[in-house]
Parts: sequence; C-alpha cells; structure tokens
Amino acid sequence: MLTEVKIHDIRRPGCDLADLRAKLIEDLRRPGSEKQIPSLLLWDEKGQELFADITTAPEYYAYRAELSLLSQRAEGIAESVKPGTVILELGAGNCKKTGVLLQALHRQRKPISYFALDVASDSLIQSLAQMSRFLGKSKYISCQGLLGSYEDCLTFLNEEEGQKLLCIRNRHLLFLWLGNSITNMPWEDSVDIVRRMLWSSNSALLVSVDGNQNPQSIQMAYDMPDGKNRRFLRNGLTHANLLLDEGVFNAGDWDLEAKWYAEDKEHRAYHVAKREISLTVDGNIVQIAKGEKIHAITSAKWTTEEVERLCEAAGVELEHSWIEPVYNFGCYLLGN
Ligand SMILES: C[S@@+](CC[C@H](N)C(=O)[O-])C[C@H]1O[C@@H](n2cnc3c(N)ncnc32)[C@H](O)[C@@H]1O
Repeated sequence: MLTEVKIHDIRRPGCDLADLRAKLIEDLRRPGSEKQIPSLLLWDEKGQELFADITTAPEYYAYRAELSLLSQRAEGIAESVKPGTVILELGAGNCKKTGVLLQALHRQRKPISYFALDVASDSLIQSLAQMSRFLGKSKYISCQGLLGSYEDCLTFLNEEEGQKLLCIRNRHLLFLWLGNSITNMPWEDSVDIVRRMLWSSNSALLVSVDGNQNPQSIQMAYDMPDGKNRRFLRNGLTHANLLLDEGVFNAGDWDLEAKWYAEDKEHRAYHVAKREISLTVDGNIVQIAKGEKIHAITSAKWTTEEVERLCEAAGVELEHSWIEPVYNFGCYLLGN
C-alpha cells in the first residue's frame, strides 16, 4: 500500500536538465541551416499545466483516442505483463492513462513496482499522489517517482545505484512510453533510445504512437482556435528567457507557425521572427532574419509500417499491436 510518494532525484551532471541552458545557447548559436531550441524548454511546471489544458480540449483527439484504446484493451495489455515486473514510465506527465493499466494489473493480482519518470518535480509529486488515491489500497502495485530526463534514466539504469533501487537484476523491466512522445525526437534518436532500452532479454517497451494521417483533425488538435497550443509553445520562450537570465526573446517579435507536413508525416511548430532581430545570447549576437524560423517541437504520426521500420532499425521485435480504429492510434509491445 502506498502511504507516501517517494521521488528519487536521478538528474546527472552533464545530462539534459543540468545543461539545458548550455544546450539552448549551443542550439541558438549553431551556424548553418534551420535554428532550433530544445523541446525540453516546453516541459517546466507551467508547461505541464498548459499541456494539461490541451489534453482536455475536445479538439485534442490523440488523448481521447489513446485513453479509449488503453481502457478497452487494458485487460489484454495487462495479461502480457509478467507478475513481478518493474514498470518504468518515461515522461509520465499526469499518469492518468497509466492508471487504467495499473488498475487492470491490480485486478489481475500481479505484483508490480511502478516508477514514473519526468522532468518537472511538483507535477510528478502531484501525479503520483493522485495515482495513489486512484489505486486505493492496492497491495499489488507500488509507486515511486524518478526526477530526471530520459538520458538521466538510461545512465542511472547502468549504475549500481539504479539497478539496486529498481531491483532489476532478476526482474522483468517494462518501459512504458505513452502520449506519442517517442515521435517528438528525430527518427535516429528514437531508434537509438529504443535500442538502448531493450539491451537485455529481460526488458521490453510498451509504446503508444499516433498513426492519424488526417490533416484537418491534426491541424485542429495542434493549433486550436482558442490558442491553447500557442500558449504552450510560447511558454518555451518564457522558459528560455528565465534560463538565459535576460529578456532575450521579446514575445511581440515572434509569431508561431504550426503546420502538418504530410510528406514527412510530421506536425512541426516553429517560432517565426516578425522582423530582423539581434538576439544577445550569452554575450554573443545571434542575427535572425525577418521570417526566419526556430524549430520548437515535432510530433510525428507513425502508422504500424513506421513502427515496424523503427523495430527493424533498432534490431528489436514487434511482439504485439493494439490499434484504435478511428484515428489509427496504436499501442505496441516491443521486445527482443
Ligand atoms: C506529451 S507529454 C505526455 C505525458 C503523458 N505520458 C501522457 O501520455 O499524457 C510528454 C511528457 O514527457 C516529459 N518529457 C519530455 N521530454 C522529456 C525528457 N527528455 N525526459 C523526461 N521526460 C520528458 C514531459 O515533461 C511530459 O510530461
């Protein structure tokens, strides 16, 4: 039974969070092609709040499609999980969808150690407190939090301390990655992280991927008329200003472009300069031309075909698929 929520700080020096400022400066000063800022800027406490607003909006089909898929298939998915498994959720967010799976595992009386990983500590504490209330007095499911990034987590799992905390030497480890988050990174990085997660025959990954290809519903979900997505994206610039300790980005100078690129099966969001701008970044001038774009985040839409290609590239097996028929939202079990 969960009486208190334990959060372990696994942030490592030199990993993403500690170095977010340095990464931001590096990205802004990178010469040549398209400029970008780290998508991690979007996920501070304010960003979590703004994202929660998005997920409850009727236009945001992806959240509902995934929740409906997980709710309808929870028993079957839970059956594929061995008793005694350690479930490690990457980018757990509010854990609401996860609750549906953990409840099914509870009904199946499977002892499970659940670890939720995320980068925002207050919302992690809140999510796990809600989860513990949701699960009630489950004697099968224990819950703890890990504060850190994906990279921190993979480093931690290779360390003695991480293996001890999660007790994964002789137990099955199931990574859980919901919310189509795997497609927020470049394809090669997704392949690489999947390969690194499934390094042993004891590990597997349950990942959900949005396969919708309908331009209208995608555009509506990612650029709602009431500006919810825009507020979320603009918060990335506010976070950048906080990190740089200077008012580098003046909100009035920037527009947003949020567009579906059908040929790449990607929705991409950019900050677009309304005029020529000189940014002073860490004492250096970065010149931005009028109309120049800074990449904020990508959300790709992969069908089963792309997931199969990802598995092939990572050298892992696609063991099971559960697909929601309306938006083609998929939940895939990968193993080796
Ligand atoms: C799209 S939301 C999904 C949240 C939740 N899994 C869901 O499906 O509703 C992405 C989540 O991943 C977290 N996140 C993003 N990048 C991360 C990183 N590099 N390391 C750890 N967490 C990250 C964010 O803080 C956020 O909570």
